[in-house]
Amino acid sequence: MKHLLGIKDLSPQTIEQVFTTADEFKQVLNRPIKKVPALRDTTIVNLFYENSTRTRISFELAQKRLGADTVNFAVSSSSVSKGETLIDTVQNILAMKVDIVVMRHSASGAPHFLSRHIDASIVNAGDGTNEHPTQALLDAYSIRERLGSLSGKRIAIIGDILHSRVALSNIYLLTKMGAEVAVCGPATLIPRQIEALGVRVFYDVKKALQWCEVANVLRIQLERQSKPLFSTLREYALYYGIDRALLDSLQKEIVIMHPGPINRGVELSSDVANSGQSLVLDQVENGVAVRMAVLYMVGRKETTDSGT
Ligand code: NCD
Repeated sequence: MKHLLGIKDLSPQTIEQVFTTADEFKQVLNRPIKKVPALRDTTIVNLFYENSTRTRISFELAQKRLGADTVNFAVSSSSVSKGETLIDTVQNILAMKVDIVVMRHSASGAPHFLSRHIDASIVNAGDGTNEHPTQALLDAYSIRERLGSLSGKRIAIIGDILHSRVALSNIYLLTKMGAEVAVCGPATLIPRQIEALGVRVFYDVKKALQWCEVANVLRIQLERQSKPLFSTLREYALYYGIDRALLDSLQKEIVIMHPGPINRGVELSSDVANSGQSLVLDQVENGVAVRMAVLYMVGRKETTDSGT
């Protein structure tokens, strides 16, 4: 694998290979010494043009635990504010002999564009409202771990589907792996024609929860809304927020997921987010193993056997 730009072009076999590689790395992470020298000769730059907590720390830990040399770049304190272009910034960094660029950018397609202009491998850590492939891989890995497999499972993605790169990557991945996928939210936050991706649509959260075995709940991305798409967060929480009373009314136990950051009291109540039904912290834990697997598959160098 030269790059990981999105889930769209990955085969089910490659996805399965990420999972089995992550299984191995998860074992490493549970050992007293949580490190393997698999990327000892590899240099990685983390190029984050957008804010991030989990994803950036998770990538950095994954890199350190593979023995790679890592450098972090935060756009706010860089020469980007002096007017440098994306290609110039990256070419200058690559001149310092960097092998892999992990990048997050607010423009959809930025990593794809860069991959056509530079030699290094690129791992997409979220591009605009397009894809967030490692989040979808770690979400699916966490479902597989809890439910045993993805095939035939019913997963509802609930919330701001329109602005969410997590939603699109999850839809691509879960449908490729044979899961049944639904999206649910207010009509203004559901992209038109989304059924063409092989998903069903619910506008009523209780119906979606009754249908599914797993609910992956997404944040309302107010920072991406140029005009208001619903009245108030209070109203959103009233109609789409998931709380204990709603879950108890289902008379079955479903799994709750959220990629973070959670707006507690908006999309999830605190007691639901903290309950045993919630996979939120498992997702974060698994994120490091899954990102180790991706970086290993992208960065592995063919070693020539000296024959001695
Ligand atoms: C998501 C993101 O940045 O796309 N978060 C994450 O990576 N864990 C979702 C979000 O910001 O709501």
